[in-house]
Amino acid sequence: MALQVRSLNPALGAAVTGVDFREPLTPAIQAELNAAWMAHLVLVFPDQPVTDAQHVTLTRVFGEPEIFHQDIIKSRSLPEIFRLSNVDDDGNLMPPAHPTMQQINLARRWHTDSSYRENPAMGSMLHGVEVSRTGGLTCFINLYDVYDALPPHLREAVHGRKARHDFEQLSRLAATRKLTDAERKAMPPVWQPLVRRHPVTGRTSLYISPIYNDAVTGMDDGDAVALIEELAEFADQERFIYRHEWETDDILIWDNRCTMHLVTPHDPMERRVMHRTTIVGDGPVLPG
Ligand code: OGA
Ligand code: MN
Repeated sequence: MALQVRSLNPALGAAVTGVDFREPLTPAIQAELNAAWMAHLVLVFPDQPVTDAQHVTLTRVFGEPEIFHQDIIKSRSLPEIFRLSNVDDDGNLMPPAHPTMQQINLARRWHTDSSYRENPAMGSMLHGVEVSRTGGLTCFINLYDVYDALPPHLREAVHGRKARHDFEQLSRLAATRKLTDAERKAMPPVWQPLVRRHPVTGRTSLYISPIYNDAVTGMDDGDAVALIEELAEFADQERFIYRHEWETDDILIWDNRCTMHLVTPHDPMERRVMHRTTIVGDGPVLPG
């Protein structure tokens, strides 16, 4: 059966049907999936009731699964699975004040995954295991289009500059416990260009990850945070956004090299269980 790819939004996002991820994929299908991903930035695969092990296998069609460096959030049974969930591994609902929820809930602000790594994740793949009916929409911004539309003063401000991406910024933004010295040493801050070139498509995009950015080259920290905020606000326009309303067993894959995302709030008493794999970056960020 042939793949069907249907655009969901003028900005980004396509739904892909005609494939079953519980079955092995031919090299031709794998190539088609990769091409559709590069063209649409976010792919939605409805009705894919995969196991976590099948999810990890599917991830390898696109790249190498990343293992999260902290013990929290990771699945106990499969370390490649990152649990975006208000239900812990034992099935207990975690209240919003729980330190793990404080960290997870920072995903309600625009960001790109693992941008604090020297080689940031190229993509992420999220499986809706128990989806929300009260919110919990995952929203994506096309950062190629944002870059092309930047007003002259912002284009000037990002030109030739780098932003710092620091995992520790999470514990400054949320009331999570402070990192230990060992954790800090394991993930030192990195500097990444604010304008990047995509290694596959060759296209230029803005590159920010506001929950990790705390400094910009050639600026004091106050001005840097103000610039990142202004860029995020400019990017947050309907014309650049696709909002995904989840159905159970949707699988989404997105490209962290040219998009950013957030999740909208939902009723904290409602279970929401989402399993993510993250795809290791294909090399250092190329300046645009
Ligand atoms: C993620 C994330 C979105 C969501 O999976 O990386 O930011 O919908 N979460 O929970
Ligand atoms: Mn994320």
